[in-house]
Amino acid sequence: MLDETLLITKQDGYALIQINRPQALNALNSQVLKELYKVLSVLDNDNDVKCSIITGNEKAFAAGADIKEMADKSGEQMFSDNQFEPFYKLRSIRKPIIAAVNGFALGGGCELVMACDMIIASETAKFGQPEINLGVIPGMGGSQRLTRAVGKYKAMELLLTGDMFSAEDAMKWGLVNKVVPSEFLIEEAKSLAKKIANKPLIAVISSKEVVNKANDLFLRDGLEYERKKFAELFDTEDQKEGMKAFIEKRKAVWKNK
Ligand code: CAA
Repeated sequence: MLDETLLITKQDGYALIQINRPQALNALNSQVLKELYKVLSVLDNDNDVKCSIITGNEKAFAAGADIKEMADKSGEQMFSDNQFEPFYKLRSIRKPIIAAVNGFALGGGCELVMACDMIIASETAKFGQPEINLGVIPGMGGSQRLTRAVGKYKAMELLLTGDMFSAEDAMKWGLVNKVVPSEFLIEEAKSLAKKIANKPLIAVISSKEVVNKANDLFLRDGLEYERKKFAELFDTEDQKEGMKAFIEKRKAVWKNK
């Protein structure tokens, strides 16, 4: 598959999606967001893929929403165009997404990272929500996801100062899963993706769903939701196979059913 602003490869049960607008530091214009949602929707129904990696290039994961595309819009236009809609719809993607972050992940770029399910950062990654320097605030979920990830006080500081922060800080604050030297970034993300690709698909999808519910629901409702999903997995062939294989001391063979 080759789209104009995205480069996509598939291997070993996962897909690698590279944002490809180097001339604009991978700024997320409407086309990138539309294509990203389209590609991930297709992959969600692709039996050869269990998870995806989104990455950028050495200089930038993505330096934000495309400022040039938004600069002249009125409030009404911004609201009615709803140009980030494809981004909001990424919430419906059922298979896990790993962000592999090199260089700048700013504004909408940082928000895209946080909309993913796991985050691997290179030592040179630079995160931030600098929208305040443009006279606005994050518009792709940053205020909500950053606050949930790092807590109110740090999020408040980061939004109000617009300061960039390092991969090391992101790790310290619980925003990323792992920090690796730049040359190992893709390798590390692929190794995580490969691990997930070897798991039974329905349980992979259910795991993503229940962890996300922890953010969306009150604990009592979340626990009830998990109980229901857990029971549902007992109607899958993979649960029968997985538990039988354990008892028979052999490796499970997944049917993804
Ligand atoms: N939108 C559009 N174009 C962008 C861009 C963006 N977010 N970020 C960079 N570019 C473009 C630049 O305009 C420049 O294009 P030209 O060569 O045509 O002038 C090109 O990418 C290279 O950028 P720089 O010359 O600025 O590169 P640099 O290395 O000197 O600086 C940077 C890098 C510090 C990341 C700087 O580009 C920058 O500050 N970018 C903007 C970051 C930002 O404010 N992001 C938030 C955007 S708003 C947002 O995302 C709202 C939201 O929450 C939804």
